[in-house]
Amino acid sequence: MNPSIAFPETAERRAALTAEVTARTGLDEVSIEAFLRAFYGAAREDEVLGPAFAGVADWEGHIANLKSFWSSVALMTGGYHGQPMQAHRALALTPAHFARWLALFERTARACFTEAGAAHMLERARRIARSLEMGLIPLQLPPRPAQGPSA
Ligand code: HEM
Repeated sequence: MNPSIAFPETAERRAALTAEVTARTGLDEVSIEAFLRAFYGAAREDEVLGPAFAGVADWEGHIANLKSFWSSVALMTGGYHGQPMQAHRALALTPAHFARWLALFERTARACFTEAGAAHMLERARRIARSLEMGLIPLQLPPRPAQGPSA
């Protein structure tokens, strides 16, 4: 079933959802952009994360793309149509990258947003990071025990 038939997404409904989140959390396009500039400024300098960002040629383009992403995710504005999983495939990210990314995201969110705003962003960041990490990094399982000849 097409969910847009069951739950019609009108511009008015989106605007009402965005206004509700802003009223409850203080999050809006302006505070999200300021947060992203602080977060990526620190990420570029970070010894674990920095090398992964060394290949970003267009930082203003990256910030604009991430602003559209977080605005869609946190404010339900619906303008982002990229493919985050694809964008990270070539970066050889490890669990240490994700742990560091989330720690920096949390520290910056707590400094930039209200408590409710930071909680709203963090809940989404953790969920998306977990699904990216599961999609990108193969599970390290212990080796299978050797099987006997007639097992
Ligand atoms: C684990 C550490 C991470 C590193 C080192 C990393 C690094 C990068 C890099 C280098 C790009 C490409 C930028 C460009 O060339 O313009 C990118 C894109 C992006 N990242 Fe991450 N990332 C990480 C985790 C995350 C997480 C957890 C999220 C979301 C919660 C995220 C969201 C995005 C998005 C939305 C894009 C843009 C995708 C597109 O539309 O092309 N990243 N990231």
